[in-house]
Amino acid sequence: MLNKKPNVHNNVILTDATLGEYTEVKSYSELFDVNMGDFSYCAGYNQIYYATIGKFCSIATNVRINPGNHPTYSRIAQHHFTYRRELFGFGKDDDAFFNWRKEQPVVIGNDVWIGHNAIIMPGVTIGNGAVIGSGAVVTKDVLPYSIVVGVPARQIKMRFSDDMIQKIEKTNWWNWDYETIKNRIDDFSDMCSFIEKYS
Ligand SMILES: CC(C)(COP(=O)(O)OP(=O)(O)OC[C@H]1O[C@@H](n2cnc3c(N)ncnc32)[C@H](O)[C@@H]1OP(=O)(O)O)[C@@H](O)C(=O)NCCC(=O)NCCS
Repeated sequence: MLNKKPNVHNNVILTDATLGEYTEVKSYSELFDVNMGDFSYCAGYNQIYYATIGKFCSIATNVRINPGNHPTYSRIAQHHFTYRRELFGFGKDDDAFFNWRKEQPVVIGNDVWIGHNAIIMPGVTIGNGAVIGSGAVVTKDVLPYSIVVGVPARQIKMRFSDDMIQKIEKTNWWNWDYETIKNRIDDFSDMCSFIEKYS
């Protein structure tokens, strides 16, 4: 059973990662400068850099978030020796290059589901309740409660009507505390009565 202490599996590399309560990071994942909200999990073989992830997010295996870009247009050579200099004995690493990556964070809302093998490109923001289909390459912002698929990812539908989305947002359920969620767990299975009670 999960608990308030983040559950980190074997062979995980965490650098400057803040993990909320009831979170889970499964094997062979690397998180670098990541803030992951309560109850969110990544299912393994994930690489996540410079990202803020909301609460209750489901990140499938092999999802990559914020892969770095090489200096394709700004330098003669795009190989990493020009900025990862220490690796090759060429002097100090190029901080300015790494800072650029930091300035392009990915921001993911609450209760977002990211399907197997998806890639979320630098600087993308994904709204609450969105779905990223398996294998998608997300290059642009994703609207809350929309479903996007493909390469590049395109919106194929919305999960709910605008009216319903407004009502869900009003409940703000992802900010309820543990005991409140526990007491109301059955309500999560009945959309109509959930909205009637809490919106
Ligand atoms: C995105 C997703 C949620 C859509 O499910 P859905 O709403 O039931 O959608 P449908 O199956 O009705 O498909 C709608 C259309 O999108 C296409 N489509 C669905 N998923 C797609 C995907 N991942 N990539 C490309 N196209 C996709 C379908 O072919 C269909 O196209 P058509 O209208 O031309 O026939 C689902 O297909 C998906 O990718 N789930 C992720 C599964 C996963 O990775 N799980 C990991 C474990 S948590």
